[in-house]
Amino acid sequence: GGLFFGLQHGESEYNVIGRIGGDANLSPRGRMYAQSLAKHIQALNLPSLQIWTSTLQRTKATGAGIQAPQIHLHELDEIWSGECESLSYEELQERYPRELALRDREKLKYRYPQGESYIDVMNRLVPVLTQLECETNVLTISHQAVLRCILGYFLETPPEEIPYIHVPLHTIIKLTLQGYNYNMETVKMPI
Ligand code: F6P
Repeated sequence: GGLFFGLQHGESEYNVIGRIGGDANLSPRGRMYAQSLAKHIQALNLPSLQIWTSTLQRTKATGAGIQAPQIHLHELDEIWSGECESLSYEELQERYPRELALRDREKLKYRYPQGESYIDVMNRLVPVLTQLECETNVLTISHQAVLRCILGYFLETPPEEIPYIHVPLHTIIKLTLQGYNYNMETVKMPI
């Protein structure tokens, strides 16, 4: 325990066109990031490094070039937006204006029709968080909402603020335990 590395998948084809959810692959820029990430991580020579990704193509492709054992966990999949999967925020505004307004009001508790809320994601993450606390040198490659939940858990962020935590693309987040608190550092990759 005491050391956690987390990052989002590289830019995906859906990031480029602003669609949520889905299982798109990396964009050309995302693939370049995966390559520089692999070089950067390899150079750190982390003992018994493991890669944990979601089961979605974009996180698997982001980690694939790193020489380390890889596992793919459903718990790390992005928030499931149910009926709204694969829509853009503009399409959401047109087709589901009431839902979007509800979400704006209470983003933490808001559950997509047939989908998940941030609270649901927090709950499904519990076993993974418990395991992460016992591991060192796990590189977790996941998604915006899931990483917000993981960071919120380690940094003890007030729950209502968790859905707004800034998790930039192409940036490695390192948490180090200092006493009882985690200290956060970020490394922005050049791509
Ligand atoms: O847009 C990328 C994405 O990972 C979507 O797949 C997901 O629905 C969204 O971010 C989560 O962020 P927010 O809760 O702010 O919409």
